[in-house]
Amino acid sequence: MIISLLNQKGGTGKTTLAVNMAREYTKRTFKTLLVDSDSQGSALRWHEESGGDLIDLTCLPVTTLDKDVVKFKDRYERIIIDGIPRMSPLTVCAIKAADVVLMPVPPSPYDIWATEDLVKLVKQRIEMTEGKLKAAFIVSRMIKGTTLGKEIHEQLMTYDLPVFVHGTCQRQEYAKSVAEGRTVCEAMTEATKEIVAIVNELEDFYHGTN
Ligand SMILES: Nc1ncnc2c1ncn2[C@@H]1O[C@H](COP(=O)(O)OP(=O)(O)O)[C@@H](O)[C@H]1O
Ligand SMILES: [Mg+2]
Repeated sequence: MIISLLNQKGGTGKTTLAVNMAREYTKRTFKTLLVDSDSQGSALRWHEESGGDLIDLTCLPVTTLDKDVVKFKDRYERIIIDGIPRMSPLTVCAIKAADVVLMPVPPSPYDIWATEDLVKLVKQRIEMTEGKLKAAFIVSRMIKGTTLGKEIHEQLMTYDLPVFVHGTCQRQEYAKSVAEGRTVCEAMTEATKEIVAIVNELEDFYHGTN
């Protein structure tokens, strides 16, 4: 399965989800490859900090991404593409390459509005592939104790694409783990539980059991 984490805005949690989900998959003994498609290389930088042992990573900030990534399909059961924070031909390539597009969106109207162009592209691709491409939103960086998470769920539903039940809350552990060159999956915290729940939901979503 090739999973593309996409949102044309920066700071929506693409890299955070990509790194942690990839690690959760490796813990489940799936052969997993993390693909950094951003020439700024946040995932690459994290990989260096981690010492390189936790997750396999490759960088493909090129418009041949969709063709190049397929070559890894024999060797890896799960390939996670960390998308770039702008709309570019690379975004189209990451959509083309994907079996599943996940779009992390923080609970703010600006972030919801900013997904409009991406949603159009994703829907076009779903149509072209006759529904073979699956896509969903993930609410990221929710603030505990506010109703914004619930409101954003409702607003995202108006885009007519599924919204994952599970998402991430704003938690220090996500940034702390990066600073320490690890993921949230190296310990068992509330953040770990979020990632486990997201990966479970993704597996059900992909295999059509929900
Ligand atoms: N759920 C979260 N809780 C706390 N901090 C987060 C969370 N998700 C992301 N961050 C932090 O927000 C910043 C941007 O996140 P990042 O994953 O790099 O976004 P993107 O890849 O979409 O630009 C990073 O500093 C990251 O550590
Ligand atoms: Mg990023």
